[in-house]
Amino acid sequence: MKAKKIRLGVNVDHVATLRQVRRGQTVYPSVNDMVGEAVKGGADQITIHLREDRRHIQTSDLIELAKKCPVDLNLEMAVTPEMIKLANKYKPEWCCFVPEKRQELTTEGGLNILSNQEEISFAIEKLQSRGIEISLFLDPSPEQVKAAFVVGADAIEFHTGTWVLAKGLKKQKEWARLKKAAELCHQLGMRVHAGHGLDYKHSQDIRKLPHLLEVNIGHFLICESLKVGLKSAVKKMVQTLKSS
Ligand code: PXP
Repeated sequence: MKAKKIRLGVNVDHVATLRQVRRGQTVYPSVNDMVGEAVKGGADQITIHLREDRRHIQTSDLIELAKKCPVDLNLEMAVTPEMIKLANKYKPEWCCFVPEKRQELTTEGGLNILSNQEEISFAIEKLQSRGIEISLFLDPSPEQVKAAFVVGADAIEFHTGTWVLAKGLKKQKEWARLKKAAELCHQLGMRVHAGHGLDYKHSQDIRKLPHLLEVNIGHFLICESLKVGLKSAVKKMVQTLKSS
């Protein structure tokens, strides 16, 4: 069987988390240096989430990476006027719209397009007119996939976190939902992306998701880099994602 190339986006938020633990008074660890390591390991894209509360990535990181990132930059963002303005100004290759709650530890679920259709549609149109491609972070629900098509998304990033954490029958059911939603996404002409909670084991399994073109992985790779360095951790993930 012909090898299928799945693009790997490496999310470096938690490099910034370590720096911000001391309120950003230290210059280490350098997000730029770690981006360099991820790229040496084979990352196709760098992903950052500029949160409203700036708990990890700062606006200055976005400005720096918009100038210097050697591969595509994917900005995860809430659909707010502030973030739309920043994306419009610094023009990453991709923006991934995500829901954001102040109290959450990490993004807890997909975006609800149905309750916010007009605002999302307007934001997509504005950023696409700047040449930015848009993905929407969604739970694998057919209603949300159809709504993503209506608002004009280029891609859907399916939230894999529920599937990763589930066990037994629940895991099988969530996998079936992901497969069905991915098929529908592809039929409607949008790219299939996936992310959240992926480790080596789940990345091996996610390769079987129909039409998958890209994954975005952060927490596991940064944790693994404590043992082996980010370049090696990314390299192993690239190998894991290669199917034969
Ligand atoms: N994709 C999206 C949209 C996310 O919000 C996150 C978490 O920032 C990720 C992927 C990466 O998730 P993880 O850090 O669990 O690999």
